[in-house]
Amino acid sequence: MKNAAKIAPKLRFLYGNGDGKVTVRYTPDTEDSAITIAEEDLQTLKGLTFKKVCVKGAGAFVIAPCDGEKPLSGKVAIVTGSAQGFGFGIADYLASKGAYVVVADMNSDGARNAAEAICKKNSVETLAVFCDVTKEESVEGLVETTVLRFGGLDIFVNNAGIVRAGSLDEMTLKAFTLVENVNYNAYFLCAKYASQIMKIQREVNPDIMFDIIEINSKSGLEGSNKNFAYAGSKFGGIGLTQSFALELAPYGIKVNAICPGNFLDGPLWSDPEKGLFVLYLKAGKVPGAKTVDDVRRYYEAKVPLGRGCRTEDVCLAISYIIDQKYETGQAIPVTGGQVMLK
Ligand SMILES: NC(=O)c1ccc[n+]([C@@H]2O[C@H](COP(=O)([O-])OP(=O)(O)OC[C@H]3O[C@@H](n4cnc5c(N)ncnc54)[C@H](O)[C@@H]3O)[C@@H](O)[C@H]2O)c1
Repeated sequence: MKNAAKIAPKLRFLYGNGDGKVTVRYTPDTEDSAITIAEEDLQTLKGLTFKKVCVKGAGAFVIAPCDGEKPLSGKVAIVTGSAQGFGFGIADYLASKGAYVVVADMNSDGARNAAEAICKKNSVETLAVFCDVTKEESVEGLVETTVLRFGGLDIFVNNAGIVRAGSLDEMTLKAFTLVENVNYNAYFLCAKYASQIMKIQREVNPDIMFDIIEINSKSGLEGSNKNFAYAGSKFGGIGLTQSFALELAPYGIKVNAICPGNFLDGPLWSDPEKGLFVLYLKAGKVPGAKTVDDVRRYYEAKVPLGRGCRTEDVCLAISYIIDQKYETGQAIPVTGGQVMLK
């Protein structure tokens, strides 16, 4: 990671009263800097209110206070897999609360459209970044790009995920490995690079806390028939969540998972061509089902509260996690009662 990406988060929490409610934007153009300073002397800038600071050998940083008054104004959030589905809804929610949001997805066009729509709706700056979460250099680049643009990172939502269902006889090693790479291995990569920036910020201001949130699944809490690749990756995600939480608690980084039930209105289920309703109807997975609506009703009937999970249900859990300053390492079900903790 560029050295500038390790300097910007320090400047962000050295500025003014140290609450991080500023953007720090990196630029190689050092002209018009109010001050030029060596990296080892950064601490002497505590309480600074300079608009542009040049750090010798690293470049310059343009600093602008954020005067928004919303609960997350000035916070920086990355949501992976946010071109559509739950991720899009979560990114939109965080922006509605004032956060600068980075829409990270391997679908570049989708990410750009999503970032534009979220920016327009919420009047807050957003950024679209191509990222394949299974590739280490891509995840590192995502975090670096975010920090060079906004100056730091407060909330990382590990949302990108895929399903490849199938029985033991049907499942190939290739499909199994792909699911583990996206849902499980990538969570490690994301936590690794996100926590590096959060630790730097915490060193400057030991009162601030940060969040890494994994969008897990009800299939991370109980087995899923002929869907073991997915369930295994999500069970593993809870093991990572608990372990990251233990390791990162001393740095003020909370790590929690949210375990939603089926998002029946989302594209994964409802897409008219590739959605699970259509696929399950064609595959005869639901006994007696003659239409897509029959398949939907079958899945709704499994939920005590009688409907699929919605983005707003997940966002309420996100809000709780971020507000809560005394909880980490948890897996929070949002399943309408379909899965209950033991
Ligand atoms: N849909 C559900 O019923 C449901 C239920 C519980 C949990 N979840 C979890 O919620 C999360 C989001 O699910 P969704 O249904 O909204 O998914 P979705 O398929 O609608 O969207 C997933 C997004 O992730 C992106 N993506 C896929 N692979 C990627 C990669 N390697 N790098 C970067 N981006 C990638 C896709 O381009 C897409 O934009 C997943 O982790 C999923 O397991 C979903």
